[in-house]
Amino acid sequence: MTEKKATLTIEGKEPIELPMYSGTKGPDVVDVRGLLKHGVFTYDPGFMSTASCESQITFIDGNKGILLHRGYPIEELADNADYLETCYLLLYGDLPNAEQKAKFNHSIMHHTMVHQQIHTFFNGFRRDSHPMAIMVAVVGALAAFYHDSLDINDQNHREITAHRLISKMPTIAAMVYKYSIGQPFAYPRNDLDYASNFLHMMFSNPCEEYKVNPVMAAAMDKIFILHADHEQNASTSTVRLTGSTGANPFACISAGIAALWGPAHGGANEAVLSMLEEIGDESNIEAFIERAKDKNDPFRLMGFGHRVYKNYDPRAKVMKAHADEVLKELGQVNDPLLKIAMKLEKIALEDEYFVQKKLYPNVDFYSGILLRAMGIPTSMFTVIFALGRTAGWIAHWKEMIDGDYRIGRPRQLYTGATERQYPKK
Ligand code: ACO
Repeated sequence: MTEKKATLTIEGKEPIELPMYSGTKGPDVVDVRGLLKHGVFTYDPGFMSTASCESQITFIDGNKGILLHRGYPIEELADNADYLETCYLLLYGDLPNAEQKAKFNHSIMHHTMVHQQIHTFFNGFRRDSHPMAIMVAVVGALAAFYHDSLDINDQNHREITAHRLISKMPTIAAMVYKYSIGQPFAYPRNDLDYASNFLHMMFSNPCEEYKVNPVMAAAMDKIFILHADHEQNASTSTVRLTGSTGANPFACISAGIAALWGPAHGGANEAVLSMLEEIGDESNIEAFIERAKDKNDPFRLMGFGHRVYKNYDPRAKVMKAHADEVLKELGQVNDPLLKIAMKLEKIALEDEYFVQKKLYPNVDFYSGILLRAMGIPTSMFTVIFALGRTAGWIAHWKEMIDGDYRIGRPRQLYTGATERQYPKK
């Protein structure tokens, strides 16, 4: 990082010199850590202009629609890599060679089972619980089952936990689904690839043979790749903030899952489908577009807009191309909901309000459509996002713990009551 200086002038004070750093890409940053000794804080609710950490994992240029993982464009990874290769890249910084890949895949595919006691743990939940509620609880509870790898200061423990989380997420996600429909849990099959194993655990049952459709497995693998990481988004920042307290990694990932659940973040893929169902008919689209533009109506077009992408979401492009392919393969191009989605997309892309505010379809718009075509129930959409994002969360957690870090402790602009006395009785 090269050093430059910025000068902050505050009325009535001496100018304050602040160091500046340049990354390998992206805007320079002003280091404001020394400001406190001058008696001022910076104010940036929503982190619109604040870099919360230094990272080497993912780079986004929102204006140009660029997303790079360890330097590789997401489009190239989606075309050439598989999800576990992408996980390796995120965790270790480079693509694996053949031997590293075989070793990593073997490790991931041999930690897939969960402690049998976890099966009992499920029985405490109502069958109609939201899958994300169970995910938050079960992933957090893994800390109660894997005491042998909780020392965050031990490099080996961190490694085992990272592998365990990537391995066990599909198993837990499929268990959540099976529990909701009252079917027995399907044990993982370590001879299958990661995505196929997930589909096997989701859709097989003991009464008949289940053959994984390779088109579905390839599509699921792409969905995992496209969700694998996205820089310092709300859930990843939650994982980092939780991790900065020294909390165990299972608790940190559980916190990340909770943050992802919100409809402004990962919950949007589920919300897209609910919205399409609510629209119900192509003739209603205009009315919903008008509602989205009305400042007095809280309704927003779900799956549109992004905090960082102000051109297009590169993941959405890849996902759209893949959704088209899969829908053709599965013979679902005439699905009425899909038709509503396509018409909505066209109208919104031409509408002055959306064009002017640079609101483009994001990855969740198309992932919801694709997941639906694959027979995944809507309430599981965000769980699948969480499954893919686990690689990114754990890579960021590892990067933070491997380096120098302090507890994350933001300050505030206090606008409450000044000191006052409790009324005398
Ligand atoms: N529909 C209608 N208007 C919108 C939408 C939308 N989907 N998104 C933003 N706007 C408008 C806002 O009303 C605001 O208008 P104003 O300037 O007149 O007040 C302007 O665009 C900017 O919106 P903000 O909320 O300030 O933008 P922010 O960066 O904070 O929010 C967010 C980004 C949360 C993604 C937002 O676009 C949104 O709510 N989208 C719908 C939910 C969604 O699809 N989330 C998925 C995100 S991608 C992901 O997590 C993988």
